[in-house]
Order: sequence, then structure tokens, then C-alpha cells
Amino acid sequence: MRTQVGIVGAGPAGLLLSHLLHLNGIESVVLETRARDQIESTIRAGVLEQGTMDLLTESGVGDRMKAEGALHHGFELAFDGKRRRIDLKDLTGHAITVYAQHEVIKDLVAARVAAGGSVVFGVSDVSIHGIETTSPSLHYVHDGQPHVLDCDFIIGCDGSQGVSRTAIPQSLRRDYERVFPFGWFGILVEGGPTAEELIYARNDRGFALVSTRSPNVQRMYFQCDPKDSVDAWSDDRIWAEMHARVDSADGQQVVDGRIFQKNIVGMRSFVSATMQHGRLFLAGDAAHIVPPTGAKGLNLAVSDVRILKNALGEYYKTGKGELLAAYSETALKRIWRAEHFSYWMTRLMHRLDDASPFEQQLQLAELEHVTTSRTAAKSMAENYVGSVVV
Ligand code: FAD
Ligand code: DHB
Repeated sequence: MRTQVGIVGAGPAGLLLSHLLHLNGIESVVLETRARDQIESTIRAGVLEQGTMDLLTESGVGDRMKAEGALHHGFELAFDGKRRRIDLKDLTGHAITVYAQHEVIKDLVAARVAAGGSVVFGVSDVSIHGIETTSPSLHYVHDGQPHVLDCDFIIGCDGSQGVSRTAIPQSLRRDYERVFPFGWFGILVEGGPTAEELIYARNDRGFALVSTRSPNVQRMYFQCDPKDSVDAWSDDRIWAEMHARVDSADGQQVVDGRIFQKNIVGMRSFVSATMQHGRLFLAGDAAHIVPPTGAKGLNLAVSDVRILKNALGEYYKTGKGELLAAYSETALKRIWRAEHFSYWMTRLMHRLDDASPFEQQLQLAELEHVTTSRTAAKSMAENYVGSVVV
């Protein structure tokens, strides 16, 4: 089998790239280890930056996001008994949409299927060959049979546990990493919304986040020990913790409901550079991870894909490889900006067990500053909506 671009992984990065290449007349095949219903039901991120919304809309896969997603013009920061609003629209002219990642995945799979695109689910034993030649190939097993897919280029969109990153020789790659000593306990709740906008709360007991999915389903998170077990948390214990962390002095309370999903995720910052070697290019979580506090993970995957789509488009139109050659350098500018913002916001909002009382006061002083100085609030807002210039 032969295609122009072989894509490993049907996450947001792989599927969106395949869709955008198709719109540019470039053929691709996506190989995915999991089944379609699994990728369409895995609960992950929820915040789409303006640029992500625009790209989904321009490429014809934004209809359901517009109809069912919730446009938010600001969010709240809760700390020290106060609630302060960051007015994204006023500070940046932009907004964000809360629309679940697995809904984006459903929209992209539907678009690929409708266009007759090739997404092969349930593959195993994927391996990458010949990236230093002009005809690399992907070897894999599907339905018990071995297959070889010859390509012009291979794009590794296979997330943090995939095989693509390690296909770049270790001697050419440098990994930068910071593992946080805490995680997020995530819940999905059947019930009404607590507030019109997201609430990020800093509390001495730990961070909490109140987000939403629809008028009847809410998404919430609270800081926890990454080694904790979901079974150790009864619904009553979870609600007691959420109330203790989020309810404000003026009587605003978290709205409880029936919890129907619980999970714990660890938190780390990670960048692997270079993101390219020969005919192999990495995009999304395959090359970088951010802690979720700044809601950047999915949006960064989309920004890598936008750069790659333009670079591959130029190559197939003109035969020139300048944009492809500059891919890693171009993408890393936005990645490091988002890494810094996510790290900064994580340290600003979480209970840091290694922080001295002095440093805890600095945390509060900084929260006071970003919620009272327009200049500081604007910087936070630009990073959050993704309009910051890199
Ligand atoms: P992925 O979505 O990881 O997709 C990679 C795909 O490749 C997967 O479908 C995987 O099955 C497939 N794959 C893996 N190995 C192979 C292989 N060898 N061969 C073929 N296919 C393979 N971000 C936020 O902003 N907010 C959040 O709340 C948030 N929560 C998260 C919770 C979890 C549990 C995780 C893991 C991530 C979370 N993120 C969050 C990050 C965000 O979801 C990711 O940044 C985003 O999914 C990146 O998209 P991607 O396409 O690069 O990778
Ligand atoms: C959601 C996740 C985030 O990481 C975040 O910062 C805001 C919202 C969410 O899943 O809704």
C-alpha cells in the first residue's frame, strides 16, 4: 500500500491533519491502535482557543461545536475568599469555547469517513522505517495480517506513549521534563451549572476547577495525590472537598449532582526537541505535554498541525522544503510559550507542599496583582485565549 502522508495516531492532531491535508488535495492514511468507539468516548480536555475554533470552522468541521459548545468571554479566579473575573473579551477581543475533546474527535472522524478517508482502527505493532530516505514506511499488523504502508512523509501524532518520538535517534533529541508532585481528580456530574463561567480556585486545601460540558453535565477537577485511588473517594467526600475549596464567603456554592465518572491524571511538563528528523515529524503530545491548568494541550496539538499543513502544502505545490525544514523551530516557539504559561498558572493556583509561608504569601500577592492590574490580567488573558504573539 502507498500514500503520500502516513499518520500514526487518531487523536485530535492526527485526525485534524488528515482532514486538512485532504482539503489541500494531499492523500493520507491514519493508523490507530484503539477502536473507533474508544477514541470517541475517552474523556479529556474541554477548552478550545479562538484559533482552534477558527480552524475547525474554516475547515468545515465546526458546526456542532458552534451549536453545542458554550462560548465563554471570561473566567473567574477564586482565592482568599474572593472571586475575581478575568474578562477575556475585553482584554483580548477573543473568547474560548468549552466543547469536549471527544466531541471534536467524533466530528473529525465523521468528516474523514464522509470524504472516503482512510483511518485504520485497531492496528498493532506499528514501527517506523527509512525516515532518513525519501521513501519511509510504516509496518503494522491489522486483523492478524502484517502490512507495509509506503509514504513520502510520516507524521507521529501518537501521543505521549507512542512509538514515533523514539524513532528519532536519542543522540539528536533532548528531553526537558518537570513532574509535579500532585495530580487532578476529575469528575463528570449530572446536574446544573454552578456558574456561567469557569472557576479556577486556589485554596489552602488545594486547587479546584469548576467547568462544564452542557446545561445538564458538569466537569470538575480538584488537586489530589497522583498516587491516590478513585475508590478512596466516595461522592460525599468529593462534594465536601469541592465545597471547602470553591464556595465563597458571599454564599456562592458549588452545585452538587450525581457523579458518573471519576479519574485521576498525573501532571507534568515535557518537551522533546527536535520534533523532526529526515522524513519524520512529530505533532501534539508525541512531542510535548503541559499540565492541564492553562487548558493548552489540545490547542498546542492543533497549532502544530496548522504549521505542518502549511509546510506539507507548500512542498506538494512547489516542491520546496523550506517550511518543512523550519517546522520544529517554528512550532517550538509557541510550545515553549505555552509550557511557560501552563507551568506559571499551575504554580499560581495549586497548593505547593514545598512552598514556605513566605512563598504562599507571594502566591496570593501575585493573584491579587493579576486580578487588579489590567496589564497583568491582559498578559494572562492573551496566553489563555492563545492570542499572545510568539
Ligand atoms: P492523543 O490525543 O494522545 O492521541 C494519540 C492517539 O495515538 C491516541 O488515539 C492513541 O491511541 C494513538 N496511539 C498511541 N500509540 C500508537 C501507536 N503506536 N500506533 C498508532 N496509534 C497510537 N488537556 C487539556 O488542555 N485539559 C485537560 O483537561 C486535559 N485532560 C487530559 C486527560 C488525560 C487523561 C490525558 C492523557 C490528556 C489530557 N489533556 C488535557 C491533554 C490533551 O487531551 C492532549 O494534549 C491532546 O489529546 C493531544 O492530542 P494528540 O492528538 O497529540 O494526542
Ligand atoms: C477543562 C480542562 C482544563 O484543563 C481547563 O484548564 C479548563 C477546563 C475542562 O475539561 O473543561
